[in-house]
Amino acid sequence: MQVISSIQAIKQSIKALIKENRSTIGFVPTMGALHEGHLSLVRQAKKENDTVVVSIFVNPLQFGKHEDFTRYPRTFGNDCNLLSQEGVDIVFNPSATEMYPDGFCTSVIPESLEDKLCGKSRPGHFRGVAVAVLKFFNLIQPDIAYFGQKDFQQTVVIKRTVSDLNVGVTIKVLPTIRDQHGLALSSRNAYLSETEKTDALCLYTALTRAKTLANMGTTDTGEILREMEKIITRCTSATIDYIAIVNPETLETVPKVQNGDVVALAVRMGKTRLIDNVTLILMIAFSCLIL
Ligand code: PAJ
Repeated sequence: MQVISSIQAIKQSIKALIKENRSTIGFVPTMGALHEGHLSLVRQAKKENDTVVVSIFVNPLQFGKHEDFTRYPRTFGNDCNLLSQEGVDIVFNPSATEMYPDGFCTSVIPESLEDKLCGKSRPGHFRGVAVAVLKFFNLIQPDIAYFGQKDFQQTVVIKRTVSDLNVGVTIKVLPTIRDQHGLALSSRNAYLSETEKTDALCLYTALTRAKTLANMGTTDTGEILREMEKIITRCTSATIDYIAIVNPETLETVPKVQNGDVVALAVRMGKTRLIDNVTLILMIAFSCLIL
């Protein structure tokens, strides 16, 4: 496995791969502190491509001033071991100055998507994500890039950016990997105390309840949200940032649930902000499908 940290070297390696005619490149962008969620993307990339490139870059542009950029977990040695075991070909881990040298001033603004859901409490976050990901796409020239449903709004932003700017990369979104109790794996789970970790299960309980209600025919968004709020507020260490049911492309909130809408939430457990989501499947639509 090659570990590359300069832009010049990654360009050379990619050029060589293309020359060699290694026909497809699969790419998994990450911020490291890898867990089974990340590895599920790597494994899928491995299945579907000749070459797999993983980036590890804690992207300063997507962190707000008072967010956790400096204390974000960095476990580079362990990450490389895991990726090498998965048969990854190239790890790209540029420094912040390599990515954003003096004078860097270009942004990508996902206008109607960036001020909704997580964007409300994380202004500038999705611009930062879009810039880093587009830069990686330009450098790595992947055929397919893999993202997790866990970061639902991020997948919507990336798909929109790629479509709006005609970037020639196929975006694949893979399911959220959870622990045995249902807690979505996240690098930030490392911040949780044991009690907070147990309490954090209320996120999944609330999402599952929403799924069940929709499944049983409840389409009133208000009713579903109230039920979810009840479950989460019962948990003392939880503070709701938002819970919303939205259209999966526009992120607009919906008054009545339709098949495929997404219920997304962000909840603070103590000082740690967790996000999660599920797609709602209506029973009526489902029975039509099997008929
Ligand atoms: P990071 O949080 O490291 O996540 C990297 C990828 O792993 C993302 O696509 C994310 O959705 C996916 N992922 C995280 N937890 C997951 C889980 N439990 N199940 C499935 N997939 C999961 O997302 C970022 O980094 C950054 O914003 C990035 C895209 C790298 C841009 O800087």
